[in-house]
Amino acid sequence: MHYDEVYARSLNDPEGFWGEAAQAIDWYKPWDRVLDDSNKPLYRWFAGGELNTCYNAVDRHVERGRAEQAAIIYDSPVTGTKERITYRELRDRVALFAGALARLGVGKGDRVIIYMPMVPQALVAMLACARLGAIHSVVFGGFSSRELATRIDDAKPKVIVAGSCGIEPTRVVHYKPLLDKAIELSAHKPERCVILQRPQEPGTLVAGRDLSWEEAEAGATPHDCVPVAATDPLYILYTSGTTGKPKGVVRDNGGHAVAMQWSMQHVYGVEPGEVYWAASDVGWVVGHSYIVYAPLLHGCTTIVYEGKPVGTPDPGAFWRVISEYDVGVMFTAPTAFRAIKREDPKAEHLKRYDLKNFRALFLAGERCDPDTLMWAENVLKVPVIDHWWQTETGWAIAANCLGIEQLPVKPGSPTRPAPGFDVRILDEYGGEMGAGETGRIMIRLPLPPSCLPTLWGDEERFIRSYLSTHEGYYLTGDAGYKDEDGYVFIMSRIDDIINVAGHRLSTGSIEEVLASHPDVAECAAIGVHDELKGELPLGLVVLKAGVDKDHDTLRRELIERVRDGIGPVAAFKLVVIVDRLPKTRSGKILRGTMKKIADNQEWTMPATIDDPAILDEIRAALQTLGYARNG
Ligand code: COA
Ligand code: AMP
Repeated sequence: MHYDEVYARSLNDPEGFWGEAAQAIDWYKPWDRVLDDSNKPLYRWFAGGELNTCYNAVDRHVERGRAEQAAIIYDSPVTGTKERITYRELRDRVALFAGALARLGVGKGDRVIIYMPMVPQALVAMLACARLGAIHSVVFGGFSSRELATRIDDAKPKVIVAGSCGIEPTRVVHYKPLLDKAIELSAHKPERCVILQRPQEPGTLVAGRDLSWEEAEAGATPHDCVPVAATDPLYILYTSGTTGKPKGVVRDNGGHAVAMQWSMQHVYGVEPGEVYWAASDVGWVVGHSYIVYAPLLHGCTTIVYEGKPVGTPDPGAFWRVISEYDVGVMFTAPTAFRAIKREDPKAEHLKRYDLKNFRALFLAGERCDPDTLMWAENVLKVPVIDHWWQTETGWAIAANCLGIEQLPVKPGSPTRPAPGFDVRILDEYGGEMGAGETGRIMIRLPLPPSCLPTLWGDEERFIRSYLSTHEGYYLTGDAGYKDEDGYVFIMSRIDDIINVAGHRLSTGSIEEVLASHPDVAECAAIGVHDELKGELPLGLVVLKAGVDKDHDTLRRELIERVRDGIGPVAAFKLVVIVDRLPKTRSGKILRGTMKKIADNQEWTMPATIDDPAILDEIRAALQTLGYARNG
């Protein structure tokens, strides 16, 4: 197979291409049309078709010879637990939990929020929803009660399934109290909560509302798979938008199943039966796609790892897991490798392990710096593949597709567009840019299967945010260029989204939290370069006249406020108090210029700046935190 041929066919004959790929999925009813384009710019894949995603991910493998194969391997260095769950066991556990949810009134189309750490029950809960045709929305454990409450109000779940606690290397995360507070804050109240009581910190159950996982399952009968329309939502996953209100990215059942299974073979080059490991979290899109759905749809063994790349117990943790379970292909974020490289630059820990079946490492979630890429290649001696995608697409927009044809690697580039994605670089008027010229990265419609068909409950926002910049194109929000060989280079975001340790955050929502402090007159948040996490958020704050509080106290209060308002995952620790913020004459805060100053990048004095002297004050303030060292 040649990449060029496969790619060209995917764009020239999308219906033939994806119709063929869809043969790998089991359907109760075939589709009427592979691509329904009757309502442009909205497209629907496999309209008229019916399937069940859980059946495809679990039951069919039990029926076709994989019953005793491990579906999930749970490895938790933070609790000292290991567990192997076969496809048969997984089917039985999922069917029973689906029965439990059904008894609580959950049916097709109902929403269920899942707020859980990296334990197999998180996957069981997700698959049980899929089995019933209910729509799950997993919320990452590093978010605060306030963020959880926003999601509860938007998704309006009938039931919430939560763990009682999460285990971070240095502390226990009190999920249950966080959940209780979120329900207190939210206007919508779930009818019931099912709590997985973990021995490390069981939660206090609220009578009449909460029941333990065991109580929920007691007396429940296993539930069968419910056929759903290909276009019905499988899940909602909230991701940072440009305001404090997150975007509820919707994933359908049909297109998702087809693209997930196709990508396992063609992007990752993995065969059914192999062990595939995505070291991420079920709360992120990487976790949805490549811890849960894609490996299981493809009949692989997936690993649920509750630990970190370093410190649990050492920087050899990833090598141990790869060797212990014979992992063929691994996927993680560059930041994890930067953490390993920092603690064990010569990869001494690697010598203790035999990575005999390990073939390839895939990295995504943030820009992969060439140093980290080359370090990983040197120590692992396997292809290290940077690939680019986002919550909205659910799979790679650009990748070196190992299952099609391995193309030469160019460090700094996630290679060429994946089949189905017609990636274009456009200028602000919609004109196409030449090779090497940086512009907005757009994708010509239709997007391939698995990409978001809409935003939950807000089609208007979907069209406004993604489809309105240039007619017929999807706005990725990234800026970059293609070189003369068609390789894509992702350079920056065009909005206020920053990427902290592979986690996507909006500086706009950090600003909303900072601005809510009673002593703050105005503020700006920017992402500054960080050696480990790629970027870190930094807040610049102007106080109201007359506030004479001690600045250290104020800074502590602001840091605490962001931790409470967004969550520890924001890693918000940098804040400076300044007298004023640099603005254009029309009042727009010059965040981009401040970021460049902080990162010691070249910058030019904006022609529209109100008062250039402010930038000297900003530089001096940033220097107190160790930034803006040049000049
Ligand atoms: N539940 C609750 N809190 C969590 C959490 C979770 N699931 N995950 C992280 N946090 C907390 C951390 O404990 C930390 O809190 P602290 O401020 O009290 O220390 C905070 O959120 C920041 O976490 P993180 O950015 O992950 O930093 P870290 O110092 O704990 O670990 C790395 C650093 C590089 C090891 C870690 O970021 C990592 O492994 N990253 C991989 C990224 C990844 O998987 N991205 C997903 C997209 S592919
Ligand atoms: P998320 O939705 O959390 O997956 O974040 C998506 C965003 O992360 C993208 O729009 C990019 O800005 C960034 N991103 C993801 N993968 C890469 C990559 N391989 N290279 C550069 N940026 C990336």
